[in-house]
Amino acid sequence: MFTAEIIETHDRKEFYRQLNMYLVQLIEEEPDWLASLCNAASLLYLLIQDINWAGFYLYKEGQLILGPFQGKPACTRIALGRGVCGTAAQTREIQIVEDVDLFPGHIACDAASRSEIVIPIIKGERLIGVLDIDSPSKARFDDEDARGLTDFIDMLNRHINWPEEFK
Ligand code: SME
Repeated sequence: MFTAEIIETHDRKEFYRQLNMYLVQLIEEEPDWLASLCNAASLLYLLIQDINWAGFYLYKEGQLILGPFQGKPACTRIALGRGVCGTAAQTREIQIVEDVDLFPGHIACDAASRSEIVIPIIKGERLIGVLDIDSPSKARFDDEDARGLTDFIDMLNRHINWPEEFK
């Protein structure tokens, strides 16, 4: 069975290289998308330092619906354009929010969250959902995180056969 070792490096580029290598090992031979996404959320939560929530919202029934995650229970449905996740899904652009209190319409699922990053998951032209990571520290995420997590999503897209229900 796969065991994820704690990644020691302080170099964020190298950190994401190793994280994404672990991800591929976990999902490349698993045909079940849900099993792979559950392990992906666990991997993020286990290995990224200084975070309090990591997981997925999936685009179903014209809205974002909560998917596999780690952290406190969260709101289950988010309309496109609402909050940070809904904004990322609607604009299809990465959102890096240094201070959630300054983001209009931020949805506070865990009062401890101070900053967050949301990466849209797009396959071809199709919106699949978003990856959302929250931190109890302000300005926890930067462009290096955005690059590393974009690679993470690329790996998911490469190895996961998304079901038809995401639309
Ligand atoms: N903060 C998000 C809502 C999801 S929770 O943080 C898990 C938002 O405003 O989109």
